[in-house]
Amino acid sequence: MESRAIEQKRKLVTELPGPGSLELERRRTAAVAPGVSSAIPLYVADASGAILIDVDGNALIDLGAGIAVVSVGHAAPPVVEAVRQQASRFTHTCFMVNPYESYVAVCEALNRLTPGDHGKRTALFNSGAEAVENAVKVARHVTGRPAVVVFDHAYHGRTNLTMALTAKNMPYRDGFGPFAPEVYRVPMSYPYRDPIGMTGSQAATRAIEQIERQVGADNLACVLIEPVQGEGGFVVPARGFLPAIATWCRNNGVPMVADEIQTGFCRTGDWFACEDEDVVPDLVCTAKALAGGMPLAAVTGRAELMDQVHVGGLGGTYGGNPVACAAALAAIDIMERQDLATAARKIGEVVGDSLDALSASYPGVGDVRGRGAMMAVELVRPGTRDPDPDAARRIAQLCHQQGVVVLTCGSYGNVIRLLPPLVIDHPLLADGLEVLAGAVGRVLTEPAP
Ligand SMILES: Cc1ncc(COP(=O)(O)O)c(C=O)c1O
Repeated sequence: MESRAIEQKRKLVTELPGPGSLELERRRTAAVAPGVSSAIPLYVADASGAILIDVDGNALIDLGAGIAVVSVGHAAPPVVEAVRQQASRFTHTCFMVNPYESYVAVCEALNRLTPGDHGKRTALFNSGAEAVENAVKVARHVTGRPAVVVFDHAYHGRTNLTMALTAKNMPYRDGFGPFAPEVYRVPMSYPYRDPIGMTGSQAATRAIEQIERQVGADNLACVLIEPVQGEGGFVVPARGFLPAIATWCRNNGVPMVADEIQTGFCRTGDWFACEDEDVVPDLVCTAKALAGGMPLAAVTGRAELMDQVHVGGLGGTYGGNPVACAAALAAIDIMERQDLATAARKIGEVVGDSLDALSASYPGVGDVRGRGAMMAVELVRPGTRDPDPDAARRIAQLCHQQGVVVLTCGSYGNVIRLLPPLVIDHPLLADGLEVLAGAVGRVLTEPAP
């Protein structure tokens, strides 16, 4: 791995948080809106590969990758160089005023890489939520229908429409209504919490019956789904679920929109998670890992759908910013050249073995799941499936105190998720997993304080 001068090794030189972070936390409290939270109060001064250096000089292992963004590693040298070069030429024109080549090249790359070999068109935006909003705009425009179907445990963003599309109340929606109308939620396939033995196709039938009863295909603009759910708890649907939903959509003339914002760009061991079951969505939303840490998002769709939107109907001042596009081209090149899909699968094997060992040792580890480098454990009260969010919080906190960044998620807040940069060195990954194992052991064997 290319890693500048920063050694890919965890090293703590102060208690965490150290004095520099504590001082910044004091300034933050006075200046920053408390509604914007941080999982770990360690202020970052530098980063490279899978290591974050805080302002006190502590080297932390990043098993979160800025929520699945820096898959190519922090400050990946080719991304940094592409950003530097582009920024020195021009930083903005607005593609809607004066276009430039890199926007076109990113769209060409996405048309080539997203599932399906049909004709495609792409439009670029700034954030995942904006991509989802625009996919719904396209679907509504093309079908002339209003309704959007989403799933239990879904997360699609924090704008008004995407809050409506998101399932979890706290902290995403609480008190922020009224929400956009015509959003209908149906059951997801969630093997750990579904009736025992429920297959993917049975779970799909359960969802489809509800769609037909409560919405009706004639009113439906699109079905929007994360092929593996992210914030909702790394829920991997049972095999057969996604293909059955895709088939129903196709048979009923309803566009299927895949939200690959968290799962995309090699994270799950394929370029896109839909590929695992050969599902070809009509529209794909991407963001996060697309641009190696720069803000960029996209909607890629069938040409015959995308071409129906009138000229000027899509866009935005910053969408497809040239610096972000240069970063994306460099990040995509790294993913292709270094075969990060294979790297993700290898990470998945290592992480899976480690989490399976925890599950065998501690009944509080209710489920181990995920795909590729998107793995998680769901924590429950031993002998039950009752969620144990407190255990997840304490385990994450213990990891943070020892310099390992892990994130929690899940509708019940009881899931620890791991999404390391796909370029992480395996000894570093092993160290992080050892810290996690120690934290799980301590929390699940000691009585809660
Ligand atoms: C699946 C999914 N969709 C949409 C979003 C929203 O993306 P953004 O935070 O860039 O708006 C996220 C962010 O976590 C996500 O994971």
